[in-house]
Amino acid sequence: MKKKNIIIKPSKVKNIKDIVDLIAEVSLNASVIKRSYNQIFKKYKNYLVALDGEKVVGTIGFKIWPNSHIEIISLVVDKHYRGKRIGTRLIEEIIKIIKKRGYNSTFVLTDAVSLFKKFGFAGVDIKIFPQKILNDCKYCPRNAGGPNDPKCNEKMLRLNI
Ligand SMILES: CC(C)(COP(=O)(O)OP(=O)(O)OC[C@H]1O[C@@H](n2cnc3c(N)ncnc32)[C@H](O)[C@@H]1OP(=O)(O)O)[C@@H](O)C(=O)NCCC(=O)NCCS
Repeated sequence: MKKKNIIIKPSKVKNIKDIVDLIAEVSLNASVIKRSYNQIFKKYKNYLVALDGEKVVGTIGFKIWPNSHIEIISLVVDKHYRGKRIGTRLIEEIIKIIKKRGYNSTFVLTDAVSLFKKFGFAGVDIKIFPQKILNDCKYCPRNAGGPNDPKCNEKMLRLNI
């Protein structure tokens, strides 16, 4: 597989099932929340896919929280395609789209800290964003802390764009 054959494109409806499957495969072991077909269907225009021909080999999206907080979500590269800068290209493209849509910052909750720091993301205290804790951390199986005081190996990182 040559890197130049992989293209990054906005997601189409026909890609949704593959996105759901890619996320499901890693969601137990990685900082990626499982999403249903309907959840992605409602927001598929906020997703990108990496394509090897017609095959979806990577994805990334963003979620719009109240008060224009934008979270980068669902970053996954198919395990057979990792280490070829596809993840890097997906992050670069989603940042451009978030900026183009008029937002001036974005955040991510991740254990891939060094990957995001390359783009200038810097650590912030998750407690500055209680909505995230209330909605996601509270029910997350990886949360070893209390419902309102999450503990895991993920870090919240923010980037001004
Ligand atoms: C994280 C992931 C998307 C990276 O995709 P990828 O296409 O292999 O990444 P790249 O080839 O662009 O890697 C770029 C750099 O990030 C580093 N990196 C990759 N995954 C990393 C991780 N989990 N933590 C820290 N650094 C990571 C690579 O080592 C590489 O470093 P280098 O530039 O010094 O060589 C992929 O490993 C994956 O799908 N993992 C499972 C899901 C996951 O953890 N998603 C992140 C949730 S926020």
